[in-house]
Amino acid sequence: MREDLNLTGTHLGCEHGVCGACTVSVDGEPARSCLTFAATCEGARVVTIEGFDDDELMGELRAAFNREHALQCGFCTPGMLVTARDLALRLPEADERRVRVALAGNLAAAPATWASHRRSCLSSRIEGREGSRR
Ligand code: FES
Repeated sequence: MREDLNLTGTHLGCEHGVCGACTVSVDGEPARSCLTFAATCEGARVVTIEGFDDDELMGELRAAFNREHALQCGFCTPGMLVTARDLALRLPEADERRVRVALAGNLAAAPATWASHRRSCLSSRIEGREGSRR
């Protein structure tokens, strides 16, 4: 994806399925691209972070990450966002503990960044709920 398609938003970190930097969406579910054989994606809809440019929920999450200063170096951010989007869709009422568990599979180098990711997810979902009541 990075070299042949120039979709450089997806990062390669551990290459062992641990860090989550390579997370993309495969048929609507987060998947570690470092552990996914291309052949198993035949006919699947694979979406990298670039593919979410026009996605409203991803826009809300990006704004929340920016507002909560959850970016720092940005290496883990695309994978975090893909995972956070899935969480927001599957468990829109998730509390902080559930957000923490859901994001535990995406590692960030800086603890402050990690805390900001959690705040961002919660913040985005709270705004989304308020927006849906309007
Ligand atoms: S590169 Fe770390 S999980 Fe894929």
